[in-house]
Amino acid sequence: MADVTPTSSQEKSGRAKPAPKGKAEAKKPHTNGNSTDTTGLRTKTDRPLTSAGQEVELEANAKITSNEVCVYYGDKQALFDVNLDILGNQVTALIGPSGCGKSTYLRCLNRMNDVIDIARVTGDIIVDGIDIYDPEVDVVELRARVGMVFQKPNPFPKSIYENVAYGPRIHGLASSKNDMDEIVESSLKRAGLWKEVHDRLHEPGTGLSGGQQQRLCIARAIAISPSVILMDEPCSALDPIATAIVEELIEELRQNYTIVIVTHSMQQAARVSQRTAYFHLGYLVEYGETEQIFQAPSDERTQNYITGRIG
Ligand SMILES: Nc1ncnc2c1ncn2[C@@H]1O[C@H](COP(=O)(O)OP(=O)(O)OP(=O)(O)O)[C@@H](O)[C@H]1O
Ligand SMILES: [Mg+2]
Repeated sequence: MADVTPTSSQEKSGRAKPAPKGKAEAKKPHTNGNSTDTTGLRTKTDRPLTSAGQEVELEANAKITSNEVCVYYGDKQALFDVNLDILGNQVTALIGPSGCGKSTYLRCLNRMNDVIDIARVTGDIIVDGIDIYDPEVDVVELRARVGMVFQKPNPFPKSIYENVAYGPRIHGLASSKNDMDEIVESSLKRAGLWKEVHDRLHEPGTGLSGGQQQRLCIARAIAISPSVILMDEPCSALDPIATAIVEELIEELRQNYTIVIVTHSMQQAARVSQRTAYFHLGYLVEYGETEQIFQAPSDERTQNYITGRIG
């Protein structure tokens, strides 16, 4: 399971935090003058960005860094100063009682909170060295790089083929019908669904079973070659067999993607993740290797939650 060595809590995460900075400075767009962007994520002006205007030391292999992230819905604060490094090619589980801010935090990572009128996000989130809250970041492109799979399978009311082809088409990823056929086939194969659907590609996606629909949604997410996949309770509507299939898939996918998964199942977090973050009342209480979090949590609140005393 766990294959990294660092850290047990965010205080001990080993990540050098950036020097304190004024908010005006934090939000100032800036360039670094060279083009080392490895994500393909570009601003609308095609201008590579550094993080928020100054050096931010990332933990080695940190794919996503959150600095002092707060989220407000109107006057109500839902997340408080979250500092968290998510490592590449690993599965990070977000756990905690209902209402503690797991989905809110997950949505911050591809700016899905932007679509909630009353939501306001402060702090910085850096994906592959890019401050994704920089006003010049192209949000459509960001969401292609940081894809999302939701709790309830939500295939489009279109054929299986079209569900997968839709994203690549709007992002111009296929130059011919053959290209598109290949993308659809390889995405369905990577999502472990090809064998079940190859002879019914033009039937409606909504006609699949729940577990198949969720794998179709995963195929749809990976068809546009994201580097990060966010999953918000992806198995909660699935039976144990479909859940086991999706969990196996998650383990395979992490070879190529960074996965952040919200789950209410302790067993699932223990099975699929290498790192676990425990949230409580809007605070990130504890973060570390999954094994350590489950076997020797350092915070009493985590201990109470994983032993079923709260939540
Ligand atoms: N769109 C919204 N408008 C107003 N408040 C919201 C909104 N979404 C979430 N909240 C509030 O923010 C807090 C965190 O909610 P969030 O959905 O992130 O929790 P969660 O940990 O995902 O919970 P659950 O396990 O039940 O899904 C809660 O108090 C919730 O009521
Ligand atoms: Mg939620």
